[in-house]
Amino acid sequence: MPSPAPLPDAPRWAALLDGWRAAPGALHERLGERLRAAIERGELPPGARLPAERPLAALLGVSRATVVTALEDLTVGGWVTRRVGSGTHVASTAPRAAPLLTLRTPAAGVPTAELDFTIAVPLLTDRHRQQLREASLDAYRESVYHPHGLPDLRALLAETYTREGLPTRPEQVIVTSGAQQAIALSAATLLRRGDAALLETPTYFGAIDVVRAAGAKLIGVPVTPGGVNPDTFAALARTHGPRLAFLTPTYQNPTGTVLPAGARQRLAAFLHDAQLPTLEDDTLLDLGFTPAPAPPRLSALAPGAPVINVGSLSKLYWAGLRVGWMRLPPSLAAALAQAKTLADFGGSLPAQHTALHLLADLPGLIRDRREHVRPARDLLAQLLRTHLPDWTFTVPDGGQFLWVQLPRPHASAFTQHAARHGLRLFPGASMGVTPLADQYLRLPFTLDPAQLPEAVRRLQAAWTEFTARGGSERLA
Ligand SMILES: Cc1ncc(COP(=O)(O)O)c(C=O)c1O
Repeated sequence: MPSPAPLPDAPRWAALLDGWRAAPGALHERLGERLRAAIERGELPPGARLPAERPLAALLGVSRATVVTALEDLTVGGWVTRRVGSGTHVASTAPRAAPLLTLRTPAAGVPTAELDFTIAVPLLTDRHRQQLREASLDAYRESVYHPHGLPDLRALLAETYTREGLPTRPEQVIVTSGAQQAIALSAATLLRRGDAALLETPTYFGAIDVVRAAGAKLIGVPVTPGGVNPDTFAALARTHGPRLAFLTPTYQNPTGTVLPAGARQRLAAFLHDAQLPTLEDDTLLDLGFTPAPAPPRLSALAPGAPVINVGSLSKLYWAGLRVGWMRLPPSLAAALAQAKTLADFGGSLPAQHTALHLLADLPGLIRDRREHVRPARDLLAQLLRTHLPDWTFTVPDGGQFLWVQLPRPHASAFTQHAARHGLRLFPGASMGVTPLADQYLRLPFTLDPAQLPEAVRRLQAAWTEFTARGGSERLA
């Protein structure tokens, strides 16, 4: 038999697996253990391709059978997926230690022509740039530290909540570095290692990563077309006794679902009775495309429940501003105010002045975003229906994603394949709290609309090539 082609990137693999033989056990167990640890540490991120069997065996000086057995064990354990033609990849559902966002941040050298469907952030126009320059100048007249946020901004946010049916005092509002910091501070304050936390599944990956990093046990409540079922939520809460819940009742990320008014009422009543600390993430709340307002917040329906509302300008304006906030129930206000002070002595003042300026015309901001995002949603939906008719999705009434179901359960392998066509995609399964069918893609419609036809052309080309190669589930 001819000797295998040398392993590309051999020095990197040799370094990654260095010392693997030192552990006890059969060779295939030691190798599997080493690869598993690399996946857990985030050295091999979801979707990363593992070497082919023969060159890896040659590099390690073992038989091919040893490598095959190790990879088969990892497949059975849900750590990797294997397909004929595209090889072995780290499974998108594999537990990860590194946050998904850092794993997907474009690396130096990524071609600029790549179209990125992994993040959904509004684009900054020239008018936005001018606003940023002007508003941030006000910051230099200020005292330097406002650990809980610029007083005028806290007051304005409190007024906005009050006007929207949730009476709020400025002391209940803390300005944070994006919604993500509000979620992270809450999880770090409320969770101890080993506690249970209840999250929708699928859900926003930043929340999954934060709760996982806190050492909590993640319990997933399935998202149905009408959001989470309050009875399922209550039953899981009774079984697992969570210390924290994370919910996105309006335009859920990634499914776009809205929890209907009746279900909200029941869920809010349960949160009140159970006194379960809950993050109600309103980050996408103002991104609705229908004239009807979203149903009331859980916190408005159950004023006595320990619900923390999280908001942000990232989706309405620009994620680079890093201005978010949380509205705290009185029972949690002191602990979270302290956590924010200790974290950073307060957020950037130029950014908060810009936020103050922008939020003075919240209806205008909402109108602007809606006018940009709604046509992009319709265009992406229409292009997909035309060019990829066997992909299915429901067009959401708001938010920023199409949650697309593929006809076959190979979304992770497809995302790998699509990279060759200059597309960066998240497999939907990486947003599962519990293992999720590998059949979904989250496609944001926040790309520049002018790029959408090209993006869908690439998706179609990648899909045609991918399916022509078999879509077989046989092992390599
Ligand atoms: C539901 C949800 N919550 C929070 C965030 C984080 O937003 P920020 O950029 O304000 O930290 C996002 C961003 O993707 C999101 O979709």
